[in-house]
Parts: sequence; C-alpha cells; structure tokens
Amino acid sequence: MNDLKTVSVEIEDGIAWVALNRPEKRNAMSPTLHLEMDRVLAELETDPAVRCLVVTGAGKAFSAGQDLKEFFRELDGKPAETKRATEAANRWRWDRLYNYGKPTIAMVNGFCVGGAFMQLIACDFAIAAEDATFSLSEINWGIIPGGLVARVMTEALGYRDALDLCLTGRAFDGAEAARLRLVNEAVPLDGLKARVKELATLLMSKDPVAYRCTKEAVRRVRSMPFDQAYDYLNAKMQEVHQAGGGRAQREGISQFIDQKSYKPVEGSYSH
Ligand code: ACO
Repeated sequence: MNDLKTVSVEIEDGIAWVALNRPEKRNAMSPTLHLEMDRVLAELETDPAVRCLVVTGAGKAFSAGQDLKEFFRELDGKPAETKRATEAANRWRWDRLYNYGKPTIAMVNGFCVGGAFMQLIACDFAIAAEDATFSLSEINWGIIPGGLVARVMTEALGYRDALDLCLTGRAFDGAEAARLRLVNEAVPLDGLKARVKELATLLMSKDPVAYRCTKEAVRRVRSMPFDQAYDYLNAKMQEVHQAGGGRAQREGISQFIDQKSYKPVEGSYSH
C-alpha cells in the first residue's frame, strides 16, 4: 500500500485509520480515490493486524462528495471509465463497508457532502465533530442523491427528515446529525479521535465472530417477515457455534458461572 496517492492508512493497536487524503480538494472523491479505497478496504479486511476500521478524512473535511470535475465532468462521454469508477465507488462505499467482516466507524471530522453519505451510513457507527457540516447538496447543482444515497437515507432516517434533507440540500451540523440519528454521537472536534479510539477499543473487546454475525443478523432481518427471521437467526446461531466449535459460548458461560471473572451486563468475556 506504499503507492497510494489519495488515501492514507495507519495501523495502530489493532485500529486501521483510513483517511481520504486529498485535503486541498476537501477529500472530494475522484476515480483514483475510489479505486484506491476499494483496494485498501479489501486488503485490510483480511489483515490480521486490523481488528477495527475507522474511515475519516485528512484536513478539515470528511469528504466533499464526488469530485465534480474528475468524477462527473471529466468522465462525461466516457462510458468504460465511468462504469469502472462507478462500480468501484459503489463497491467500497456500500458493498464492502456495509458487509465488512470487522467493526467499522465513520469519524466525521468536517464537511460530509452528497456521495459521502454512503460510507457514513454503511459504517457500523458514526461519530461526528459537533461543528462538522453535512449537506445533501445534489439538488443544489441539479441532480438527485444517486448511487444508493436516497435509498440509504430512508433506511437511516425517518421519512420526513430524509425528504427534508434530500429536497432542501440544506447544511446542518454534527449536533443536528446526532439529533436526527444520522450519527450516533457528536463531540467537540478536539475530543473526536479519543472518543473514536475509546469506541473502537470497546468493539475490539467483543468476540469477533459474535460481532460480525450480530451485525449481519441485525441488517438482514430488517426486511424479513418474522417466520423467515426465526429461520435465519437459527441458522446464524449455528454459524456462530460452528466457527469456534461452540468454544465461545462455553467459555463465555464458564467465565461468568464458574470463574466469576466478569459479568455479561458489564462487559465482554475474555477471548
Ligand atoms: N469536487 C471537486 N472539487 C471540489 C469539491 C468537489 N466536490 N469540493 C471542493 N472542491 C475543491 C474546490 O473546487 C477547491 O479547489 P481549488 O483550490 O482548485 O479552487 C478546493 O476543493 C477547496 O474548496 P473550497 O470551496 O475553496 O473550500 P471551502 O472550505 O471554502 O468549502 C465546501 C468547502 C463547502 C465543501 C465547498 O468546497 C463545496 O461546496 N464543495 C462542493 C461539495 C459538493 O456539492 N459535492 C458534491 C456532492 S453530490 C455527490 O457527491 C454526488
């Protein structure tokens, strides 16, 4: 990953800090950036040194959305390049992140605009600076929230709020994003990284198979009728047991009942 031009990666204590790295362009997402993020996320997902992924932006932006010059204007009339860039863009921002096999956190340090809502909503958690600026600006320059943005807005927010933000394109801050539940929390910018590190440490303390299967279960059952959800969750439980030969559950119970070394309500068993 030494050849990256638009993305930076730092791995420390199990956390991969992945930053969109075009601060002079407010981390607008160019075709090169999409191809690099697609590759980086794939590599980190199977890197044993990585137990939690944080997506953020260099400088004062999380991301100013798609690069209006390089992604839209310069790809205009080039169907092959458009297809390649669009596929990479959708793959890393949604397919990879939504289904990521490890905990994921969006750390929103500043401007979060348009297409950046995909990676924002795809992550398991989102923590924003109170004064970060959000906007679905698409309508302000004559397009619609594409990719999956309009769809995932209705997934993350109530209908009225999703419509409001998509139709007005108005800017709102991190504190409002937290009130709308678009992000989990908003904190002062100078405490943002520490708070994300604290959350990452908590998520890494969980049994990794149970964590992955829980998030897959919550996401999949949302659109299932109850009878299918029963079946799905039963099969998912078998997957959890099979992954460690049932060791995790036995150990988790034993550390509570026999060793009395932890209480499940207060934290995770030691794995
Ligand atoms: N695409 C291309 N270039 C961009 C983008 C973008 N999305 N956002 C910022 N830039 C460039 C600017 O053109 C400028 O380039 P220059 O230095 O060569 O002139 C540089 O980044 C800095 O931008 P400024 O506007 O000077 O920075 P400022 O901090 O004042 O404002 C802001 C930041 C509010 C994010 C502003 O740049 C902006 O409104 N950007 C457009 C955001 C947008 O609408 N994105 C598209 C969303 S829709 C979608 O993603 C499908």
